[in-house]
Amino acid sequence: MRFKPEIEHLPPYKPAKLIGGPSATVVKLSSNENPLGPSPHALAALQSAITQVHRYPDASCVALRQALADHAGLTVGHVMCSNGSDELVLLISLAFLGAGDEAVMADGTFISYRLRTLELGAQPVRVALRAYTHDLAAMAAAITARTRVIFLCNPNNPTGTANGAAEVAAFLAQVPDDVLVVVDEAYVEFAVRPDYPDLLVALRAGRPNLVLLRTFAKIHGLAGLRLGYAYGPPALITYLERARLPFNVNLLAQLAGVAALGDSEHVARSRAHATASRAFFVEQLQAMGLVPLPSETNFVAVAVGDDNAVSDGLQARGFTVTPLGGWGLPGLIRISFGTTEQNHAFIAALRAVLAARTNDG
Ligand SMILES: Cc1ncc(COP(=O)(O)O)c(C=O)c1O
Repeated sequence: MRFKPEIEHLPPYKPAKLIGGPSATVVKLSSNENPLGPSPHALAALQSAITQVHRYPDASCVALRQALADHAGLTVGHVMCSNGSDELVLLISLAFLGAGDEAVMADGTFISYRLRTLELGAQPVRVALRAYTHDLAAMAAAITARTRVIFLCNPNNPTGTANGAAEVAAFLAQVPDDVLVVVDEAYVEFAVRPDYPDLLVALRAGRPNLVLLRTFAKIHGLAGLRLGYAYGPPALITYLERARLPFNVNLLAQLAGVAALGDSEHVARSRAHATASRAFFVEQLQAMGLVPLPSETNFVAVAVGDDNAVSDGLQARGFTVTPLGGWGLPGLIRISFGTTEQNHAFIAALRAVLAARTNDG
């Protein structure tokens, strides 16, 4: 066979080390999932719809798009749904990138942006983080005549840091009209800084070159159903819709999405749990002499020395975390928040792993 080099040379997807199952004894703190699970309303919707799966889903996701539009004060035309927000990264890349094009992104951000750019034969232009945060001035300076797309992950995975409204506005003001700014807001619901940017305002005002990516995989606890969405200008959404498969969002995901969106109590509970977990982790990590990065998400990144060795040590004690060497951040691990009980047990395990290392050394 003759393969396409753009695909052949991509690194294969490396799944998180363990997918929990009925017999799993390992606690998975490596995929930024919601430890509280899905909304009970979403579960009820799934149960009542399960007998209908011989039917195709609504190819236009009308009910879900209407609910998402109402939620954001936008129109249905501003909303597109997808098989996880990761699919939107692919669709945007398909729709905007080809050989000779450039996509600007951070060095130390969600890996999909780079992989999809390479897959399409375009060039990723990676801009170093500054203090583990997107360096927006440097990203603006990296724009060339070849730039078609800029990926900005805010809050950023895997550092957990966020850029504030003033610097994002200053950045957007420097981006030419024909360059698309993709702001991936997978963790938006967890952000706590008071000046976190509300970019829906820009969409309501008609900004043409901005698209926001969101997901039901994080705060809504529906990662396994695969459901994401975009808010963007109607002309852009109509264009992107051409690039997708007809039934990209399955029937169960559409119904559970509407139910989850309506369950503001579950969202509030999940946010409160993340906030409490964050405070716990910061306090405990600092007590160990570590310096956690400021997190606006449901996970925390922290420098531990040898990220692979510490991750392996944690795995041996029953916890998976993400070593960040492969993300361009050697020495750091990313820890997703678990239940309160899991968080306590994790801290004890980390103490033991770090103590064993000190004793060995
Ligand atoms: C920043 C970011 N964007 C997108 C995704 C993908 O989310 P989804 O499960 O909706 O495809 C993730 C998942 O970890 C993420 O961290």
